[in-house]
Amino acid sequence: MQVKILITDPISEILINKLTKYNIKIDYRPDISKEELQKIIYDYDVIVVRSRTRVDKELIEKGKKLKVIARAGIGVDNIDTEEAEKRNIRVVYAPGTSTDSAAELTIGLMIAAARNLYNAINLAKTGVFKKIEGVELAGKTIGIIGFGRIGSKVATVANALGMKVLAYDILDIKERALKMGAEPCTLDDMLPRADIITLHVTVGKETKYILDREQFEKMKNNVIIVNTSRAAVVNGKILLEFIRKGKIFAYATDVFWNEPPKEEWEYELLRHERVIVTPHIGAQTKEAQDRVAEVTAQNLINVMKEMRLI
Ligand code: MLT
Repeated sequence: MQVKILITDPISEILINKLTKYNIKIDYRPDISKEELQKIIYDYDVIVVRSRTRVDKELIEKGKKLKVIARAGIGVDNIDTEEAEKRNIRVVYAPGTSTDSAAELTIGLMIAAARNLYNAINLAKTGVFKKIEGVELAGKTIGIIGFGRIGSKVATVANALGMKVLAYDILDIKERALKMGAEPCTLDDMLPRADIITLHVTVGKETKYILDREQFEKMKNNVIIVNTSRAAVVNGKILLEFIRKGKIFAYATDVFWNEPPKEEWEYELLRHERVIVTPHIGAQTKEAQDRVAEVTAQNLINVMKEMRLI
């Protein structure tokens, strides 16, 4: 039997090159629409996705032959893993592959927010050389929510910038945080102390809307919030309310509730001068994408061998 793999998001050619020596048919459809995908999924044994494709219950049900779902990336929140498990479909992903790229973008967004770079660059490009004032990061306190690989890397850079680092995680990170020069604390302790808050958590029951009305109320005035994790960890409508009130200096984000946005409130946020948005490019570097493709290909080979598909 020849295994049929469908790739539905843009992925480095390394992935296909590594798989070609096996008896596999690969269809690369990086722009496939949701409707088209639902029509053709019945014919595939394996689907490979990034963040654009939602592998929800409906799609899994239509994937009658589906045996493996591969996430070429670090987050599986766009996959209904419970439904996959029920149907004995294996889910593989590539943790750790984009740590440096995501941490670097976080620092970039933090600096862009603190120095108002978006407005400064836009004005300069129109020939207006206005001395736009920002704030310095040295001496400021950064609160890191989620002290995993990316959060820890952000802590290292923040330390080098002369910032005081606070770290919160649902796991016990006390010893590791202290070793890295960060002060472990609770979220309630962090919120009124942090000048900058950065999010590095996956979305789950405990982290959905980890920043909600109660948390925004506890924050300092003029706080900068950076989000390169998932939009759903922040209550967007409440965020907009606090941005309108002028409590937040800047919200710099790489992730949006709908990508691209659909709702009116999302567009208001997107266009707000206090909001900086990048289009989910945290892992979008040559280096990270090559690593993601290598690891995903190896994951697929391992799991397909285990399942005696190849
Ligand atoms: C990830 O989870 O790896 C990121 O969302 C990056 C991506 O797939 O674009």
